[in-house]
Amino acid sequence: MMAKIDLKLLRNQAQKAIDLTKDLKELNDIFKRYLGKRGQLTQVLRSLEKLPETKRAKVGKEANELKSFLRIKCDQKAREIKEKIRKETAKTEWIDITRPGERPALGHLHPLSQVKNKTEEIFQLMGFSVVEGPEIENEWYNFDALNIPKDHPARDIWDTLWLKPEVRSPNSQRLLLRTHTSPVQIRYMEKNNPPLRIIVPGRVFRHEATDASHEINFYQIEGLMVDKKISVANFKAIIQHFFQQFFSTPGGEKSIGIRLRPGYFPFVEPGFEVDMICLACGGRGCSVCSQTGWLEMMGAGMVHPNVFKAAGLNPKNWQGFAFGMGLDRLAMMKHKINDIRLFYSGDLRFLNQF
Ligand code: PHE
Repeated sequence: MMAKIDLKLLRNQAQKAIDLTKDLKELNDIFKRYLGKRGQLTQVLRSLEKLPETKRAKVGKEANELKSFLRIKCDQKAREIKEKIRKETAKTEWIDITRPGERPALGHLHPLSQVKNKTEEIFQLMGFSVVEGPEIENEWYNFDALNIPKDHPARDIWDTLWLKPEVRSPNSQRLLLRTHTSPVQIRYMEKNNPPLRIIVPGRVFRHEATDASHEINFYQIEGLMVDKKISVANFKAIIQHFFQQFFSTPGGEKSIGIRLRPGYFPFVEPGFEVDMICLACGGRGCSVCSQTGWLEMMGAGMVHPNVFKAAGLNPKNWQGFAFGMGLDRLAMMKHKINDIRLFYSGDLRFLNQF
């Protein structure tokens, strides 16, 4: 009898508690209070065995019904509370999915890299291979092999950064930071027999005061073409084609005027300076070209016999042209930049324009 009254009371109490609560944690406590390990209903179920057999079946049935009833009640209540919480947070915390997203900042290649890539592309289409050489050079490759003997005044053309005299190459050559990419001419011809066509992009160093058109380090692109019969006409055609491709915008191919002036470089004979018509004024004369209408773009010439000899080739068998142009100068012309130092400033306001 006792057990029966308890069950009714239990049912009323539990139902009331479940109905009144608004909180998940409290609901959990209520569940434990009645249905947990030491919960009141659990205890009733445990004590069934002590009841006389006649009552056991009836009370047991009721208790088990109450158990599943309370479980369902708790589940329902939990769902209600969660739904209410969801609705409330939806009011305050929401995401406007129509808002434009934030674009992740994408980097891009440095303007000098872009110009280097473009130059390589144009020359590769004309059958040139891209070759590289070391930035730390020895005296032989940077000077002697290029027909610039020690103590010759021609060395003064290149203001050289020497490494400490104690630091020498394995063959006890004096070391320096290469002042031009021309040493790679020798390095390449030592290992490769003509006919050959290469370009050599690379960083070079000069011991100079910096200003708008001079940097202590900058980039050059060396060119070398050697075969049985190569003439200045071949050089002119190739370089003209290069400028045309390099400076024309998609769809508008420009014809770009160039001219060769005599110039002195010990490793070529004859040697010349190559000028390009000033793109800023179209050749009429302006401040960019110092009113001349022309811009100096590179040094070039026919490979000197002594250079072939130094690389182990017989000058009687081969002819070739070589050129060296400033990559920075090229980029400055293309983008109308008036200060070379901007390339090395790391200033994003400048770099982001390309
Ligand atoms: N190496 C020369 C310089 O840096 C340029 C050059 C290269 C001239 C090849 C002639 C031939 O000034």
